[in-house]
Amino acid sequence: MNVESNRPTKLRVGDAEVARIGLGTNRLRNTPANVALVKEAIAAGVGMIDTAHTYTGGESEETIGAALSREPEGCVIATKGGGGSGRGRGRPDVLQAEIEESLRRLRTDSIPLYYLHRVDPATPLEESLAAINDYRERGKIRHIGISEVSIDEIERARRVVPIAAVQNHYNLSERKHEEVVDYCERENIVFVPFFPLRGDGGRTVEEIAARHGATPVQITLAWLLRRSPAMLPIPGTLSLEHLKENVAALQIELTDAEFEALR
Ligand SMILES: NC(=O)c1ccc[n+]([C@@H]2O[C@H](COP(=O)([O-])OP(=O)(O)OC[C@H]3O[C@@H](n4cnc5c(N)ncnc54)[C@H](OP(=O)(O)O)[C@@H]3O)[C@@H](O)[C@H]2O)c1
Repeated sequence: MNVESNRPTKLRVGDAEVARIGLGTNRLRNTPANVALVKEAIAAGVGMIDTAHTYTGGESEETIGAALSREPEGCVIATKGGGGSGRGRGRPDVLQAEIEESLRRLRTDSIPLYYLHRVDPATPLEESLAAINDYRERGKIRHIGISEVSIDEIERARRVVPIAAVQNHYNLSERKHEEVVDYCERENIVFVPFFPLRGDGGRTVEEIAARHGATPVQITLAWLLRRSPAMLPIPGTLSLEHLKENVAALQIELTDAEFEALR
């Protein structure tokens, strides 16, 4: 991750420079309208499309695969494996099967960013990551991330593989990962907050939104973007209008007082 200025609208994910707003796709069904939405999202300038092996029973990945005839410039496609519930979900053989299926569904030879979705209580994270790293060494995965983890777990992971991104639950109300955000910023790791819009900014966010002629969702995103230059939120939407509003949040500059009022 390289930072351009004090309030960068872009950051670097491995070899790609991308806008700091993405698209979450955990409700994406494989319909013609959603295939069009993915194409329009890229045209509208999202910097990341976030999916997972588990989302909508595979339809999310399939929709993205159907929308993209080649890898888009300026937009990283990220997927995940080893999610869901149950012990053993991070076993090497389980991950290998999921990676093969994700490559097929995404219709690609190389996944730009692949996360271990959850640390498996039954498999040391080093073993799960070694299985993913095997694909990285063969060029079928380019960068590795890890999701819902502590600093200790990130450090363990980094002893085995380079970690390009961390994706943890973080928003205006859910702040248990403050130290992880700061760690990622220091260590040049992209921090992707999931459920970015589920927090509650209350009346304050509404007042700030009115002052900026913006929506409360845009202010929520502007706050996240201001919180750290390592932050790349992936708000989930099935609406092109909402998606464009989310990308436009990159242009909103909160004052120090506004930032602190929401902090
Ligand atoms: N790593 C993990 O374990 C993990 C866990 C959960 C989620 N995720 C990822 O995080 C992404 C985001 O999470 P999420 O989608 O569940 O929650 P979210 O992004 O916090 O919120 C999504 C909700 O916000 C609405 N929304 C989006 N943009 C809006 C706008 N401009 N104005 C008004 N409403 C707006 C959406 O409705 P509309 O469709 O009507 O816009 C939807 O109801 C997921 O899609 C997934 O990719 C990862």
